[in-house]
Amino acid sequence: MLDHVVQTLSSDTLLACLIPALLFIFSLYFSGLPSLSGLRQNVAEIIAGRRRTTFGHFSVERAALSYQQYAKLSRGELATMQASYGKLGRAHKRVGYDMDYPAKLNRLQEAIALNAKVTEGIVQLGKEEFPDRLSRGDWQSAGVHGDVHRVRESLKHFVRDWSEEGRAERANIFGPILDVLQDVKPAARQEMRVLIPGSGLGRLAWEVSQMGYVVTANELSFFMNLAFRFLLSESTTEHVNQHTLQPYASWFSHQRTVDALFRSVQFPDTVPRRSTNLELAECDFLGLERPPALRTGGPAGYDFIVTLFFIDTSLNIVETLEHIHGLLKPGGTWINLGPLLWTGGGQAALELSLEEVLRLAGMIGFEIASDTDGPRRRRTIECEYTADREAMMRWLYQAGFWVATRMR
Ligand SMILES: C[S@@+](CC[C@H](N)C(=O)[O-])C[C@H]1O[C@@H](n2cnc3c(N)ncnc32)[C@H](O)[C@@H]1O
Repeated sequence: MLDHVVQTLSSDTLLACLIPALLFIFSLYFSGLPSLSGLRQNVAEIIAGRRRTTFGHFSVERAALSYQQYAKLSRGELATMQASYGKLGRAHKRVGYDMDYPAKLNRLQEAIALNAKVTEGIVQLGKEEFPDRLSRGDWQSAGVHGDVHRVRESLKHFVRDWSEEGRAERANIFGPILDVLQDVKPAARQEMRVLIPGSGLGRLAWEVSQMGYVVTANELSFFMNLAFRFLLSESTTEHVNQHTLQPYASWFSHQRTVDALFRSVQFPDTVPRRSTNLELAECDFLGLERPPALRTGGPAGYDFIVTLFFIDTSLNIVETLEHIHGLLKPGGTWINLGPLLWTGGGQAALELSLEEVLRLAGMIGFEIASDTDGPRRRRTIECEYTADREAMMRWLYQAGFWVATRMR
């Protein structure tokens, strides 16, 4: 009798322990191996009976969450800096105080508050423009941390693409591209399609659309897409230089003066709007298909594809160049400018030199313009990317520029 009770008890106890344990292991298995803090979050969610939701790195949810958490995460970093200063001995802290270092940290706090006006505006607009994806609360409670570095990168793109401060950087890289597009007579442009993959914050796409071409700005990352929409929307951007950022405040290195570190940049230098000439394709470039011809009876596909600092983001350059080739009309033109900075850590299947990329382009069916071919000539363009022009450090690219024709 006693044996039976013990046996029943232990099998019931075993089941009572085993089932939750198995459920727990399965939950961990399907949600991926978590870090220690992620594990805590998972356990809490499993106990609360909530399913864990994961969003892609560049998704609208992840981007909105990151913009929303910008101020909190930045203040967290500031707290670490304040703590480091606080650890100084009394005498050295006094030196720091005499040099106004606490005031400098206070200025960072103000810069974060200023920048947060933009990031909060971006989130608010995102909620209005993506109600299906951002009205439910699950994107905020997914246990995912915002990516403050990607937010800062996007804020710097406001400077590169849409500020007076970025004018010289833009002139260097847009100039050679626009020169090639200027060669087409204005009347013919309205029947020509231009695709700009990896269009970032959209300035180049907008400039080309202003020339009369029918442009598709293609961008995968919603860190970029939400920021571009912030400029395109009348509800968030009404006039020139409406917004202000302190884009360099988060990195104290390479600064000549405290004022340079905290200098403000206003944007936009011109107000972009959507138009029949400017279409957004907020998706993976590799998923794009050939568009129908604008002219009745003409061949489908793009007349021009412009890749600016783009092809090296590819994890399979053969696939990328084949896709560019496939999207162009026969005889269509591919314009490229970029430095071949491959995704690190061996993630890209092929990390090619300039010579190899050009050879690959030939194998795929492109003919590259020679180095004497007027505005189409192949050459090196010295340029920068989201540079702080007052900093003590400059990163100069010797980027490759070429124009290629789809031959077959
Ligand atoms: C180095 S940035 C250049 C941005 C812009 N062309 C410029 O020069 O400022 C590369 C851009 O390509 C985008 N991108 C990368 N892979 C993509 C893909 N498969 N489809 C569309 N965009 C992509 C990235 O999100 C990023 O905005």
